[in-house]
Amino acid sequence: MPARLVIEGGVPLRGSVAVSAAKNAALPALTAGLLTVEPLVFTNVPDLQDVRTMIRLLETLGAAVDRAGARVRVRVERVTSEVAPYELVSTMRASVLVLGPLVARHGTARVALPGGCAIGVRPIDQHLKGLTRLGAEITIENGYVVARASRLKGARIATDLVTVTGTENLMMAAALAEGTTVIENAAREPEVVDLADVLNAMGARIHGAGTVRIEIEGVADLGGTTHTIVPDRIEAGTVIVAGAITGGDVTVTGLVPDHVSAVLAKLEECGVALEVGPGRVRVCGPERPRPADVTTSPFPGFPTDMQAQLMTLLGLADGQSRVTETIFENRFMHAAELVRMGASIETEGSTAIIRGVPFYQGAPVMASDLRASAALVLAGLAARGRTEVSRVYHLDRGYERLEAKLAALGARIERRA
Ligand code: EPU
Repeated sequence: MPARLVIEGGVPLRGSVAVSAAKNAALPALTAGLLTVEPLVFTNVPDLQDVRTMIRLLETLGAAVDRAGARVRVRVERVTSEVAPYELVSTMRASVLVLGPLVARHGTARVALPGGCAIGVRPIDQHLKGLTRLGAEITIENGYVVARASRLKGARIATDLVTVTGTENLMMAAALAEGTTVIENAAREPEVVDLADVLNAMGARIHGAGTVRIEIEGVADLGGTTHTIVPDRIEAGTVIVAGAITGGDVTVTGLVPDHVSAVLAKLEECGVALEVGPGRVRVCGPERPRPADVTTSPFPGFPTDMQAQLMTLLGLADGQSRVTETIFENRFMHAAELVRMGASIETEGSTAIIRGVPFYQGAPVMASDLRASAALVLAGLAARGRTEVSRVYHLDRGYERLEAKLAALGARIERRA
């Protein structure tokens, strides 16, 4: 039987907790190892299922990966396979991040088409359109994207929508292209900036990461480097909500407060007391949160990856809130589980109307994706009685030892087989 989390709710969390490095920065950073014969060393790689999957994928492509605790060394002296197999891509969509580096360095790449996932259709057309602009020839063969190019050539790429991994893939490909590439409408997420930092330390010439216009002067070769991955702003936000929803007093350390400013602003609107210092945020939960309306959008807007967690808090607010999801078309699966715990939530298309209830009741609930799992854990922490969250393998994809961190804050939470 897959593991589950058993939570006895109602304990206000207290104490201090340090966040891990960001999953969504670690995954592209690891794939940058494909761009050079020299080793890349990352000092603080979180121990997560998605990271393990990415390491396995890199190994199938020819990487030698050594892991000692949080330190991971990736070296790809030679690309020995150009195939990212369906078995791996279907378990982790971020596998598509190998496409750009592979075609740039190796001249060919075969990457299984990821298809849909629990939170939506999620096509990769913008990745492919951008690579085509860089001169790659793209075909679809037996469920695989095949990209071929002798040497990519710099180009102006305007993406039709803001895509995080799309921007990362194109930045990596363009780093080794001949000439200058400009990506317009680029994603501005801190994880994109972190990848640009890795690439620049490897010898790339990337300017403007963190803005909507990224300029990349291609270079002939990239070298090795050592890098510390940016803190996980979504883990930070999740733990901050844990402090707020339990009416606790929690200090989250090791984060970059600017990376969570949209989340902090929304929490303040909900009456959550926050104290922000360098690399830390202290949160004191209100008696009862105030309602708020929120619409997800790309960074620096309110992140889709915090939507489920905020909805859990709003479910207990003193009034009606409205949550609109604009990034993914099917990211309300937590709502039905929250209703099983006593929440009053109606969804219509991309909007959820949440009428706050005074408390949640513990219940058996089922996780459906990574952030939905986190939302259910938060509900369990606040609920009266016992909550059992099953299918926690979703949580393990992206949170490092979350239950241990919450337990250290006083939560009664236990993993059971
Ligand atoms: N999209 C397209 N075509 C494309 C690319 C994207 O239509 O070629 C659409 C997607 O279907 C989606 C929207 O554009 O509706 C935004 O997708 P984006 O490409 O930005 O998402 P992603 O790069 O696949 C990353 C994170 C997600 C996070 C989103 C949005 C990684 C590895 N994943 O995904 O993280 O939700 O950006 O911020 O960086 C998570 O950690 O739980 C997670 C899902």
